[in-house]
Amino acid sequence: MSKYDNSFTDELRQRLSIIDVINRRVPLVKKGQNYWGCCPFHNEKTPSFSVNEDKGFYHCFGCGEHGDIISFVMKSENLEFKEAIKELADMAGLKMPEFRQKTQQQIEAEETYVKITEKAAEIYQNLLYGESGRVALDYIKNRGFSDEMIKKYRIGYAPRGNVIASHFSNIKIDKLIATGLVRVGDRGPYDFFRDKLMFPIFNAHGQIVAFSGRSLDGSEPKYINTTDTELFHKRQTIFGFNFARESIHRNNRSIIVEGQIDAIQMQNHGFPETVAPLGTALTEDHIAILCKSNRNIVFCFDGDNAGQKAAIRAATLVLPFLRETSDIKFAFVTGGKDPDEILKTHGESAMRKIIDDATPLIDFLWNVVNKNYLINTPGGRTSAEKYLKDCISKISDKIFQNEIEQEFNQRKFNQWHKWKKTEYKPTIELPDTDIMPINIIKSIVQKYPMISEKYLDFLTSLNISFDDENVPDTDLSLDAAEKFIVSYKLRKYVEKLNLEKQEIISNALKNNIDCKESISEIDNKISDANEKLELLLDINNK
Ligand code: UTP
Ligand code: MN
Repeated sequence: MSKYDNSFTDELRQRLSIIDVINRRVPLVKKGQNYWGCCPFHNEKTPSFSVNEDKGFYHCFGCGEHGDIISFVMKSENLEFKEAIKELADMAGLKMPEFRQKTQQQIEAEETYVKITEKAAEIYQNLLYGESGRVALDYIKNRGFSDEMIKKYRIGYAPRGNVIASHFSNIKIDKLIATGLVRVGDRGPYDFFRDKLMFPIFNAHGQIVAFSGRSLDGSEPKYINTTDTELFHKRQTIFGFNFARESIHRNNRSIIVEGQIDAIQMQNHGFPETVAPLGTALTEDHIAILCKSNRNIVFCFDGDNAGQKAAIRAATLVLPFLRETSDIKFAFVTGGKDPDEILKTHGESAMRKIIDDATPLIDFLWNVVNKNYLINTPGGRTSAEKYLKDCISKISDKIFQNEIEQEFNQRKFNQWHKWKKTEYKPTIELPDTDIMPINIIKSIVQKYPMISEKYLDFLTSLNISFDDENVPDTDLSLDAAEKFIVSYKLRKYVEKLNLEKQEIISNALKNNIDCKESISEIDNKISDANEKLELLLDINNK
């Protein structure tokens, strides 16, 4: 049986984490590399049932039961193979394919496909070092690719003619077309890739299943990829994964960058755990594949607007895969266009700083809502809350979901509602001048003529008569008297404002009141602020 017979079960294994599948029946706890729980297949009180997420297997050290997601569902629910597949397909949100054994013809067709793409890669590789490949070779070397890198990634050159169509002229045309390398036009078969720098696309096992060709003359599109074929599904293929796999495991994380050249350069400059989606759009399948190794991902996007958008999309896609042990982060390239450029112009350490400074998912989401919604309006806050709620609902683990919700609630309380409070409720304490202020002012004016002179404008604005004969004596000192006048002035001034403005002004004055500046300096500031305020009120009234 060819391995492609099992493509649907493979897809299920790729899509579903064995931890999620088993956790539904057996609570699991992570200890070291594995997850542990009490074996559902024999009676036990201490856990000897271990599950390895990476390998997709469970094993009971007590009773010896072992298997994968399919055998687990079959045994634990007493189901037939097909029924188990159906249940898992539902869980993964996949449609059941029709179960048909592959015909000998199909198996042969797939073997031919692999042979053709493999041979095509070899032809392209040789041509890169030939006469026609000179421009391409210069180009890729200029981009910092050594001969070893060229060899490792099997980079090649597709010339202008129809090398593939003519090389395989003895092979049935349908089989050639099936690889996506050859098409048929009015004048017969022709090569799909012409005058392109060729990057083979490998599947997870290191087999070439497709190509990505970069234009060399500046023509658009910059890259063309093999369109989907029987053996190549762009949405499920991650560029560089076959090379990064080991390192993703060892370094316990993966880094996703936007471009394939970025991925190659990263892999060769200190970040072997780097991969890239094919084309710009990241898919759920890509994330599912990476999460099979571990759930620690650094998304590294270009610093432009498109990068921001892509990051938001990635965040949405990654949420269903989140676990309490996951470490998901977002890095944005600054100081250059993309990781390739950073590595070239600033070196590995600059790139490492970008990766190390990556923002955790929760903070990233929080920043997104605060940046994109008008948080200082009730409507904006409502939209932001809806967005967050939607994000949270995507997390599959209920307890974790609840924790994240509380985290956001805390932030809302601390950052949004505190903001509301300070915005509308003045916090400054004004001196208490309500007790017979007019009489006190009169007595101050009588006792301290210099104060009257100094604050003449303010005092006349009060419209009180100072001709009164029966003004009481004051026992306030000169200092205290001046303080009283200034406080009163401040109070009058603040009273004129609406609550919102009161708060702004109070805050502006607060520091001045707190520090030990002389009273007249404070007064100058009040006058100054008052003038500005009158001007603002004037403008507002117009
Ligand atoms: P970029 O436009 O950022 O290109 O596209 P890049 O990776 O920096 O390319 P270089 O460095 O100029 O060679 C990012 C990725 O989007 C896909 C490719 O996979 C590319 O690596 N892409 C881009 C396409 O599939 N088609 C295009 O026309 C452009
Ligand atoms: Mn680039």
